[in-house]
Amino acid sequence: MSCESARLHGRVALVTGAAGGLGASFALRLAQEGADVVLVDVRPCDEVAERLAALEVRTLAATADVSDEQAVAELAARVTSRFGRCDILVNNAGFGRVERFEEITLQSWRELMAVNLEGPFLMSRALVGEMRARGWGRIVNIASNTFGMGLPIGFTHYIASKGGVIGLTRALASEFGAHGITVNAISPGLTRTPSTTRKMSEQFERDRVKQAIPRTGEPEDLVGMLAYLVSDDASFVTGQTFNVDGGLVRG
Ligand SMILES: NC(=O)c1ccc[n+]([C@@H]2O[C@H](COP(=O)([O-])OP(=O)(O)OC[C@H]3O[C@@H](n4cnc5c(N)ncnc54)[C@H](O)[C@@H]3O)[C@@H](O)[C@H]2O)c1
Repeated sequence: MSCESARLHGRVALVTGAAGGLGASFALRLAQEGADVVLVDVRPCDEVAERLAALEVRTLAATADVSDEQAVAELAARVTSRFGRCDILVNNAGFGRVERFEEITLQSWRELMAVNLEGPFLMSRALVGEMRARGWGRIVNIASNTFGMGLPIGFTHYIASKGGVIGLTRALASEFGAHGITVNAISPGLTRTPSTTRKMSEQFERDRVKQAIPRTGEPEDLVGMLAYLVSDDASFVTGQTFNVDGGLVRG
């Protein structure tokens, strides 16, 4: 239950891809920390919104495609009109596809970039002005530890998009560092969510044995890092990418 001593009491957070998987867990943790939460997804977020309502924070469940410039602009206006502000943005919406490099069509490449890379660009551009005006903001981009791994599994477009997300993170951190806005990325390892396939799990099990990491990740393994990065404790941490993957990727 939210109370005034909660770490994020009075903050408004927006999480994309919040209808399930990691996004739902991120939203739940932010609400537990006392933030009002805007849930954004192409799928309905009502179930997650109901869970948050029990925490006595304000919520808004919005259906929007983060790769649609007009939809993102309308969403930002709706958030400002409802809450008057947005302090925390979690760019989590994204997806992967396993396709051998030579079989990746331009259309498939663009679809992936549109959601995984243009989505964070559009969402950040729409909301960062509000943060700058208040002199406080947190942007956390969800990348992937595959960027730091040598995985020959047909993930080129996905890895390239997540590399772009890490570049976006660094550039935004530089551009807005003087305005009280931090921008960081979390790179999860393979984490059990509806989108993780059996094939990926098998691949992971082979790597796990090879690399001696403890176990497959659960969404709950990621939420503590997010809670830290959006808190006042992390005000001097920006432009960084944190692998949260049991130690598979180091450095
Ligand atoms: N689960 C993992 O093992 C893992 C590992 C590394 C990185 N990630 C990253 O974490 C993020 C979340 O992954 P997940 O496993 O929870 O996936 P998921 O498929 O369970 O959830 C992603 C959510 O994003 C939504 N979404 C997709 N396209 C969208 C769009 N255009 N606009 C708005 N919402 C959209 C989906 O409807 C879905 O609810 C992704 O960016 C993913 O690349 C996941």
